[in-house]
Amino acid sequence: MNGTTGEISPTTSDSVADPAATGVEGAPGREGTADTTLTGPGSVAQWTERYTHAVMDTFGAPQKVLVRGEGAYVWDADGKRYLDLLAGIAVNALGHAHPTLTAAVSAQLGTLGHVSNFFGTPTQIALAERLLNLAQAPEGSRVFFTNSGTEANEAAFKMARRNRDGAAGPGTRTRILALEGGFHGRSMGALALTSKAAYREPFEPLPGGVEFVPFGDLVALEEAFSDEAVAARGEVAALFVEPVQGEAGVRPLPPGYLVAARELTASSGALLVLDEVQTGVGRTGTWFAFQQQEIGGGVVPDVVTLAKGLGGGFPVGAVVAFGERAATLLGRGQHGTTFGGNPVAAAASLATLAVIERDGLLANVRAVGEQLREGIAACGNPVVAGTRGHGLLIAVQLSAPVSAEVARLALDAGFIVNAVQPDAIRLAPPLILTRDQASEVVAFFAGLPADLTRRVPTPTPTPAPTASATPPKG
Ligand SMILES: Cc1ncc(COP(=O)(O)O)c(C=O)c1O
Repeated sequence: MNGTTGEISPTTSDSVADPAATGVEGAPGREGTADTTLTGPGSVAQWTERYTHAVMDTFGAPQKVLVRGEGAYVWDADGKRYLDLLAGIAVNALGHAHPTLTAAVSAQLGTLGHVSNFFGTPTQIALAERLLNLAQAPEGSRVFFTNSGTEANEAAFKMARRNRDGAAGPGTRTRILALEGGFHGRSMGALALTSKAAYREPFEPLPGGVEFVPFGDLVALEEAFSDEAVAARGEVAALFVEPVQGEAGVRPLPPGYLVAARELTASSGALLVLDEVQTGVGRTGTWFAFQQQEIGGGVVPDVVTLAKGLGGGFPVGAVVAFGERAATLLGRGQHGTTFGGNPVAAAASLATLAVIERDGLLANVRAVGEQLREGIAACGNPVVAGTRGHGLLIAVQLSAPVSAEVARLALDAGFIVNAVQPDAIRLAPPLILTRDQASEVVAFFAGLPADLTRRVPTPTPTPAPTASATPPKG
């Protein structure tokens, strides 16, 4: 126990000697009342103090310490309730403690919790089939499972490296393109694809060959594929794109961009990799964002990366490779992970997908998302300049860089939101959000102090879209 305040539950020390908890003695160790969480009581202030002594300071101090969730609500250690409009950053698709998800995870863990990738499991295989089906992936498509979004992009990066033979001969595809403002994760390959200097520079040198093109700029994209660029810098192995840039402030690509990107990548032999880590699994109102005509224009990508909402809160990621060519870029022994595709994560994903389908949540996302976007945009408060996004991935554009103050006011009022940019608030609530809950959110924005933009000192002009308003959490 490493804490400096708060108490250890009296059962904690017992639990260490309890065979049911340690598994040291006897079998099967399923009975007993061991306190396996090793926590005990404490206020938000006490837990926050303990956090600062025990958890590495990469995220800053937590805004609150949360102890429980149910549906779209969470409670902090002081017993205060919040409507969770962030869902663990676009993760908890079904909200908190969903009974179907809880039962599926418990049942799988009680049956078969983990096997190595020397073995298959029915849940893993069924999930791969389900994802291929939902993605309408063609014959020959395959899935690789990971534990997170960054790992899914890491795998896609390696696939891009294997797409190495170009028209000019073996090994001539040396370039990978990504978009300015894009966020693809924090491990070294995914970080190399992420444009923000503050994330990259402390860790350079990063894997090479990545070039950034300006967001949404088709002329710049065409230039990157031009004969001159190829002659000077080599052929392109892959283009990585988020259909809606999440961390950059919920920025949808301009209409037609993905269609043009598909044409350029297809004609040059480059892979079109869509990072749907944030936008996938119903978040925008379709299973995947690229499936919306308005966003994808009917394109079929080569690779889609997923995580976040896929496990409904259980850590899981996936790479969907479309067609035989993409699906065979990584051969035997060329990539791997101990936990990726484990049966509990797969069961969580299957349950999440099943509930989204059973409860008509895609339609709910579209309807409640529209209600939120339109309601907030029309709320009449001068602090609100507009909204953007698709489904339940929404940015509230503010008329001044006061997002940190708005997020603080929201927390006080019992709403969890994210100051994703100095002048933008991100909403990514559970897909189960109701119309009544959405009305409460609209009322919150309508009721913001109209003089907020004058109350908060704003010494700097609106910063570039890649700057973060709060310590980055993604
Ligand atoms: C688009 C996108 N890609 C990748 C990632 C990284 O995912 P993870 O945090 O699961 O590693 C994120 C996380 O915010 C993301 O939004």
